[in-house]
Amino acid sequence: FSPLVGDRPLAGRHVVITSGPTHEPIDPVRYIANRSSGRQGHAIAAACARAGAKVTLVSGPVTLPDPQGVDVVRVQTALEMKAAVEEVLPADVAIFVAAVADYRASRIAEQKTKKTEGGLTKLKLTENPDILASIARHENMRPALIVGFAAETQNVEAYAEEKRIRKGADMVVANDVSHDSGIGGAGGVMGGERNRVALATAKGVETWPEMSKDEVAERLVLAIAEQLSA
Ligand code: CTP
Ligand code: CA
Repeated sequence: FSPLVGDRPLAGRHVVITSGPTHEPIDPVRYIANRSSGRQGHAIAAACARAGAKVTLVSGPVTLPDPQGVDVVRVQTALEMKAAVEEVLPADVAIFVAAVADYRASRIAEQKTKKTEGGLTKLKLTENPDILASIARHENMRPALIVGFAAETQNVEAYAEEKRIRKGADMVVANDVSHDSGIGGAGGVMGGERNRVALATAKGVETWPEMSKDEVAERLVLAIAEQLSA
């Protein structure tokens, strides 16, 4: 399974990748999170390393082992992830695979919130910064190639292109996560082994057949290498 190792198409490149969910604390015992396992982001990090790149993986909380040959920076929250990405720039390529929590608690309670005091019914949320969009608009630190992901439940191709333009990315890989809801969603994309994606670039949107997350990673590395050399 590794057609890339031979010619190392990313040799000499620095690739920064975000992966996993973020955890946004509410109080000492609770947090806001999502179903991301980190599998796709970690698979991409491993594939980039096999392709010869120096890889820095900025990962939210996951239960996966560190990919081989990759520098891993561990973070919990979106704000920590943004700071960590800025810290490890410059890079030639940035791939934003993390399922960043869109909101954090406006204030983190120092003590466990009690039901008797109204509990979380009055929880106030603040929007997190968009890490991808902020890096894509960086004056002097913008990597030459920016790749985003989009988890969608409908209109996958149209949203992929819309996100690519809106966020200033060069490529967006869109996942159809419409079968991920419910208890024991092991068959779904988030947490699962397989993925069906559409790739939006300046040339248009192409839909790839369903394949393993490792195969998606390899194909994406090839598309990135091609784009870099174009
Ligand atoms: N992303 C990010 N920082 C955020 C939110 C998203 O870097 N605060 C990145 C993700 O890593 C992904 C891309 O932006 O590469 C798209 O994430 P997604 O959640 O699909 O897009 P949103 O803009 O948050 O839109 P929505 O969740 O409303 O669909
Ligand atoms: Ca989001």
